[in-house]
Amino acid sequence: MPNALNHWADKMEKKGLFVCVEGLDGCGKTTQAKFLVKTLKKMTYNAIYTAEPSRSHIGKFVKKYCLHGKGRISAVIEALLFAADRYEHVESEVTSALKKGKIVVSDRYVYSSLAYQGAAGLDLKWIEAINKHAIKPDLALFLDVKPEIVIQRLKSKKSVMENLETQRKVREFYVKFVENGELVRIDGNKSKEDVADAILKVTLGCLRNRG
Ligand SMILES: Nc1ncnc2c1ncn2[C@@H]1O[C@H](COP(=O)(O)OP(=O)(O)OP(=O)(O)O)[C@@H](O)[C@H]1O
Ligand SMILES: [Mg+2]
Repeated sequence: MPNALNHWADKMEKKGLFVCVEGLDGCGKTTQAKFLVKTLKKMTYNAIYTAEPSRSHIGKFVKKYCLHGKGRISAVIEALLFAADRYEHVESEVTSALKKGKIVVSDRYVYSSLAYQGAAGLDLKWIEAINKHAIKPDLALFLDVKPEIVIQRLKSKKSVMENLETQRKVREFYVKFVENGELVRIDGNKSKEDVADAILKVTLGCLRNRG
C-alpha cells in the first residue's frame, strides 16, 4: 500500500478503549472487571477481560515466585518481574485488541506496581522508568475499600502481600494517584451491584467522551 494510503488507513483505524481496575487485594477487582466485560458484551460492545500477572510464561512465573512464593523476594526483583510481565501483556494482548477496536478491561495494571512497590519503599520515578512501555489507559479505576474490610473479604484466600499495615500503606499510594487525577475513585465498600453500576456509568461516560 502506498505511504499516503497507509497513513489514511492508520487514521481510519478503529480505536478501542483501555480500562484498568485497580485496588487493594480482595477489593473486588476480578468480580467487577469480569462483570463489566459481561455487561458491555450484553450491550453489544466488543469487550475482553485481561489480568496481571498475565497468562504468559512470565506471568505464571511472577504468580509462582512473587504471589505464592514461600518467602518475600526483594522489592526490586518484584518490580522488574512485574514490569517484564506487563511488557508481555501489553504487547501480546492489549495493543492488538485495542487496534481491533475492542474494549480491554485489565484486572490490575501499572498502578499496582507503583502502589505496591512504592509502598515497599522503591522510588516511583524508577518504577515509572522500567514501565515506560506500559501504554496509558483511557480510564484507570481505583476500587476503594477500607483495608479492614478487604482483610475480612480475604479471610479464605492467602497471599504474601496481605496484612493490614501493608494494605493501609498501599491505599495511601492509590489515594495519591486519585488526587493527581490519574485514577478515578469508585466507592468499593458498597454492594457488588452498586459498585458495578458506578463502574459502568464512568466507563460509558468515557466511551461517550471518546466519541
Ligand atoms: N462489593 C462487595 N461486597 C462484598 N463482597 C465482595 C464485594 N466485591 C467482591 N466481594 C467478595 O470479596 C472477595 C474478593 O473479591 P475479588 O476476588 O473480586 O477481589 P480481588 O480484588 O480480585 O482480589 P485479589 O486482589 O485477591 O485478586 C470475593 O469473595 C468476592 O465475592
Ligand atoms: Mg482478583
